[in-house]
Parts: sequence; structure tokens; C-alpha cells
Amino acid sequence: MRSKKEKLADRKRKRKYKWIDGIVVLIFILLAGIIIWLGTNGWSMSKAINSLQNGQEPLVEFQEIESASERGREDEVDDPEGVSEEGEKPEEIPLRKIEDAPIIEKSQEKAEEAAPEKPSSAIDYIKGQQLPKEPKYVDGVLLANKQYPLPRDYAPGESEEAREAYNEMEAAAVTSGINLHAFSTYRSYEYQVTLYNRYVERDGQEAADRYSARPGYSEHQTGLAFDIGEVNHERHWASNSFGDTEAAKWLAANAHKYGFILRYPEGKEEVTGYMHESWHYRYVGKKRAAQIFKHNITLEEYLGVQ
Ligand code: DAL
Ligand code: ZN
Repeated sequence: MRSKKEKLADRKRKRKYKWIDGIVVLIFILLAGIIIWLGTNGWSMSKAINSLQNGQEPLVEFQEIESASERGREDEVDDPEGVSEEGEKPEEIPLRKIEDAPIIEKSQEKAEEAAPEKPSSAIDYIKGQQLPKEPKYVDGVLLANKQYPLPRDYAPGESEEAREAYNEMEAAAVTSGINLHAFSTYRSYEYQVTLYNRYVERDGQEAADRYSARPGYSEHQTGLAFDIGEVNHERHWASNSFGDTEAAKWLAANAHKYGFILRYPEGKEEVTGYMHESWHYRYVGKKRAAQIFKHNITLEEYLGVQ
């Protein structure tokens, strides 16, 4: 026979274990809840690391963006713009459409400290301007800037000629130990709406207008603009820091040989309407690129529209 004392101790022990069981179940439910929440909210380790490195919550996440020509390797699922589908499927991110893959224009990351003062006479949008029915060509060169927008439905996809030239350039860079990657090329009107609105929301319209084109005004909609970075160096993509890399220096010195020009050079915001972008190259063909490079001028100056 157990004594009263033993029974009491036994009951106390049971009560204690019940209590511990309850806590374990509660912790389990909490952990499961957190895991489900993180999963449904798109959390990933790489994003978390990225945001820590950037010292801020990324507004848009970097995605691996495949070029049009590379699209074949992935299930065509984005883009940032699957380039070929002439519009609809611009580049793709693995397994997603480019349109789903926002691109960070990190140049504005530290806009306040890094941005040079905006020149008062910088080329600007024309108030009340409507998008045209036809794109603007000057001497056979398609022009897209703050004064010459594109039709809303202009959706050529990535230029095959530009892609071929880019591939040639990419291969040449490899021989110098540089692995280039065009992380954003053709962007549809609709995708630009998403991007631009995000930047305006983040930095305000005045700041956004210095680095992101309004829908209909982006050179990316021509299919001839290539934002270039280095493979595995995503932190420099669309960032001012890219300008200090060997890859950026190689591009600045060699891109013209393949028909590309640095579209928004330093100190030319007055003429181009945009702050310097060390990663944004525009295909104009070898001959024109050579002349523009030789004379160290912008596309606007070359075409005489400035
Ligand atoms: N970042 C360039 C200006 C664009 O948005 O087209
Ligand atoms: Zn660009």
C-alpha cells in the first residue's frame, strides 16, 4: 500500500509532466506557425542575407534572369522579360517570367549621399506629352529618352542582333577572366509600370525620375538595352559599386567593339536625363558605337537631338 504522502507526490509529478507536455506542444505549434508563415511570405535565406548586406529591406529582390537566348535552357515560364517573345516573354528568371522578376536599381540605394546634384537644365519630360503611335528613329537609330517615348504597344522583345553581339562580347570577356551576365534586357511597357511605381513609392517621383524611366520612356522597351553585371556578383548588379569592378572597366573599354555604348555616362545627366549607370549598355551597331566611343559623346549628342 502506498502511503498518502507517496500518492500526493505521484499526483504532483503527473501534474508537472502534464504542464511540460503542454509547453512542448505549444512550442511545436508556434514553430510550425512561424515556418508556415515564412514559407507563405516568400522568405529565403539568400534574400535575408542580401537584405543584411544591403543594410535595408530590399524593395525588390534580385532574381537570376535569363536572357532571351538562354531561355531555351529553362522552362519558359519570365523576365524579366523573355526576350523573344517579342514582348510577352522577355527575359526569364528560372522558372518565372521576367515580368515577375523585379530589378533593383540600387544606384539609389544611398541616393541621398551618393546622388550628384541634378543639373537644373537636365533634359526632362514634356508635360502632357502623349505616347506616340510610332517610335522615333533618327538616322536609322531608334531613340527612347525623356523626350522621345515609345508607343505603349511597342513590344519587339529582345533584339536578336543585339543578343548575338552581346554573346560575342561575353565570350571575349571570358578570355580576360570576366564572366558577364545581362541581367535585364527587354522590358515590356507593363513591366516598366511595375518597376517605376516601385521606385516612386520608395524614393519619391523626383528621385525616381533620375534613374528609372517612366513607362513608355525606357530604352529597355526597345529590346536594345542590356543591363550587364557579373555572374555570381549580384550585389553589384544595377549598383554604383559595379563601376569599380574590373568587369565594368572592361566593358567601358571594349563594349564599343561589339556595338554597345555606355548609355548614361558620368556627368551627362543634363544630356541623357539620367544619372550615370555603369551597367546600362545600348546596342547601336559597331560602326556607330566606335564613333560614339571615339568622340566620347552620348547617343543624344551623336544624333544631334541635344
Ligand atoms: N534605368 C533606365 C533609365 C530605365 O529605367 O530605362
Ligand atoms: Zn538599364
